[in-house]
Amino acid sequence: MNSPTHIPGVQFSNRTRWASRGAISFLMQQGVENPGVLSLAAGLVDPDTLPVELAQEQLSELLADDARARQCLQYGTTPGSEHLRGALVPFFAELENSTPEELDLQAEDLVLTTGSQQLLSLVCDALFDPGDICLVAAPTYFVFLGALEAVGARTISVNTDEQGMCPDALNQTLADLEEEGELGRVKLIYLVSYYENPSGVSLATERRKQIVELSKKWSKSQRLMILEDAAYRELQYDGEVYPSLWSFDTDRQNVIYTQTFSKSFSPGVRVGFGILPDDLKKPISDLKGNDDFGSAHLNQRLMAQVLGTGHYRDHVERVKASYTAKRDAMLAAAENYFSDLEGVTWQHPHGGLYVWMSLPESIPTGFDSPLFETAVQKHKVMYVPGELCFAGDAVERNHMRLSYGVLTPERIGEGMKSLSHAIREFL
Ligand SMILES: Cc1ncc(COP(=O)(O)O)c(C=O)c1O
Repeated sequence: MNSPTHIPGVQFSNRTRWASRGAISFLMQQGVENPGVLSLAAGLVDPDTLPVELAQEQLSELLADDARARQCLQYGTTPGSEHLRGALVPFFAELENSTPEELDLQAEDLVLTTGSQQLLSLVCDALFDPGDICLVAAPTYFVFLGALEAVGARTISVNTDEQGMCPDALNQTLADLEEEGELGRVKLIYLVSYYENPSGVSLATERRKQIVELSKKWSKSQRLMILEDAAYRELQYDGEVYPSLWSFDTDRQNVIYTQTFSKSFSPGVRVGFGILPDDLKKPISDLKGNDDFGSAHLNQRLMAQVLGTGHYRDHVERVKASYTAKRDAMLAAAENYFSDLEGVTWQHPHGGLYVWMSLPESIPTGFDSPLFETAVQKHKVMYVPGELCFAGDAVERNHMRLSYGVLTPERIGEGMKSLSHAIREFL
């Protein structure tokens, strides 16, 4: 066969080009290329508290009966296992401090997804044409920023403080957009409502109510939706118990809610769920049908089995105890090694997996910054550069996301000490 003299390049779609942010892949690669480096970057969960025995027990129980094993090992349905959706109704009602009857919540209101990430991505597909607008906190979850870019959405940051997104600033942003004739393009407000990745901040209760009201007020030519990402809801260590944004959306028209078992149980199982307003159920199901026509059935049945035993709750308590000790180790190390560094501040999270640290504005922290290079090459410690977590219109370059999920408390202390040495070189 004659080989052609010129092989033309592949003509990739716009969506592929828009998806080329790649920060998460770069970060993973850094970990692999620098094995001796202590990672305060990895967002993985604590390997020591993964539910090995519980999963072993419940899987063998699930598969012990042949007929049931055959069901579990078969394809499921697009919205997901009825066993798990049924079990999630009382599970969620309990989180809401309520009952399924009071909430009037049915299994059909839920969709099961491959982690909550899949729901985030399906919502992007369902709502955004290129140029449509999403309003986000600053900072926010950087993988979602990538998902927005990949559908050609325009992302606008709304002023955010230690109590989360500021409702006044949100109202002003929407008023400005209306004046510019752009309100019709604003489709979504995205909020990580509990212990945000990366800042650790939770949206204050009063603000939750106000933001839901604002989404209704500004639903003019089309409905302005809120995507409530409650990925860290169960990982609360102390402080206030927050009601969901969803609970303030009493007519169930504006809030799409998503939660995951990746953090509280196992990311390897990768089961998440969404609660959808009525008119999103079919579009999301249609998109998911094209995508995978149902997430891994066995994993869903395992989660249903685990929730049914009551051991789940004990497991979550163990996970929280472990993370509380790690968070405390990180905060104690911050106090020990950073408190004499002028212009260096950090948040005290009441849950989640992250401490957000800010440096003087003169010290950029990005992948290409001298600090990142010095931290990784010389002091053998890595963090997530904060700039990844800001939408393009409002990038701040002097922050770091520090995770306490993976390392032991001792190693967290060592990592923080090394990081403080790296920073001292630039003060
Ligand atoms: C804020 C937030 N949302 C969603 C996810 C997605 O998690 P999963 O797809 O494993 O549920 C993560 C993962 O780190 C996250 O931090």
